[in-house]
Amino acid sequence: MNSIFHRTSIRRYTKQKVESEKIEKILRAAMAAPSAGNQQPWEFYVVTDEETVRRLSETSPYAGFTKDAPLIIVPCYRTREDQLRFKDYAEIDLSIATEHILLEADELGLGTTWCGIAPLQDRMDAVAAVLGTDVSLRPFAIVSVGYPAEEKKQQDRYDESRIHRI
Ligand SMILES: Cc1cc2nc3c(=O)[nH]c(=O)nc-3n(C[C@H](O)[C@H](O)[C@H](O)COP(=O)(O)O)c2cc1C
Repeated sequence: MNSIFHRTSIRRYTKQKVESEKIEKILRAAMAAPSAGNQQPWEFYVVTDEETVRRLSETSPYAGFTKDAPLIIVPCYRTREDQLRFKDYAEIDLSIATEHILLEADELGLGTTWCGIAPLQDRMDAVAAVLGTDVSLRPFAIVSVGYPAEEKKQQDRYDESRIHRI
């Protein structure tokens, strides 16, 4: 997949809205992710309301730039034991699903940035308060999405010294 070697964090977006067909493709990619015991602990909030986008951008000191994004996706995870097989893996499962969002968006010509929310309780509480999520649901990340208004080349991070051949 070329997006693995093309995606970068894009923090500036044009005003162009993200088409609903593309949003669906991104969410299909997210839900195609593997998860522990196939528990699929995710739920996704799709936020295009400008005021809610602005309020979400204030839930982390490092997410201010997301206020101008045309779309924010907030992947959340379930915590109810009767809905999960391996609850300790829920955040790992969400990590993979969130990466699928970034990669599919890149495939579709969109730019994204993952803003960390979990596992920091104060940020999770702040996002939950903005979205009004059920107490059993934990916000995992803020992913801003939009058409790129900046061009970036991916950094080559390949480092032979990190590989240990036995
Ligand atoms: C768990 C996680 C949390 C991150 N949180 C933020 C954030 O709060 N704000 C931000 O601007 N970028 C955030 N990023 C993006 C990283 O800064 C970025 O991925 C890293 O600098 C590498 O750059 P690249 O994505 O362009 O390859 C986060 C990335 C990850 C995986």
